Amino acid sequence: MDAAHIDDDLVNVLFTEAQIQEKLGELAARIEQDYEGEDLLIVGILRGAVMVMADMARALTRHVEMDWMAVSSYGSGTKSSGVVRILKDLDTDISGRHVLIVDEIIDTGLTLSWLTSNLTSRNPASVEICTLLRKPEAQRMPVDVKYVGWDIPNEFVVGYGLDYRERYRNLRDIGTLAPHVYS
Ligand code: PRP
Repeated sequence: MDAAHIDDDLVNVLFTEAQIQEKLGELAARIEQDYEGEDLLIVGILRGAVMVMADMARALTRHVEMDWMAVSSYGSGTKSSGVVRILKDLDTDISGRHVLIVDEIIDTGLTLSWLTSNLTSRNPASVEICTLLRKPEAQRMPVDVKYVGWDIPNEFVVGYGLDYRERYRNLRDIGTLAPHVYS
């Protein structure tokens, strides 16, 4: 689905499919350089990171292993408490491995902050984060992010894995949702 298919639902297109692919290529090149000679496990955080994982993995010109985690809140209080529940854990033992968490957005930072500590406690060789988007104005928890695609304003963005009520994930572009959709 392209932005043209849901024209009225978006205020604007922030990043086109082509811009996203170009950015992922840049990030992939940096990742290849930084992990040269090392084994690498990339961990996608369901469900939003599916698109980034698929395109990032294919942008890499080296071997990489892929695994997934699904996390959820303990209710409406979670985003403020920072408490996260694991719905699907890794299938991989990450002890001694280089782990790169891949997500599509860092908002408050609570999810990734919690996940980083959780994975670090499993004695990996390293844990780093790659996110396509980050909202600096929304951040409430400091997160050490090694690879960031773009910093964006604190607006409601959808597409390329990002949803509103489970819709828009399959939009090829990333756009700002029009207020009439959610108000
Ligand atoms: C999104 C995103 C991050 C998290 C970031 O997932 O994938 O994991 O929110 O938010 P935070 O920085 O405020 O913690 P979401 O909870 O929307 O689930 P989804 O990936 O299934 O859409």
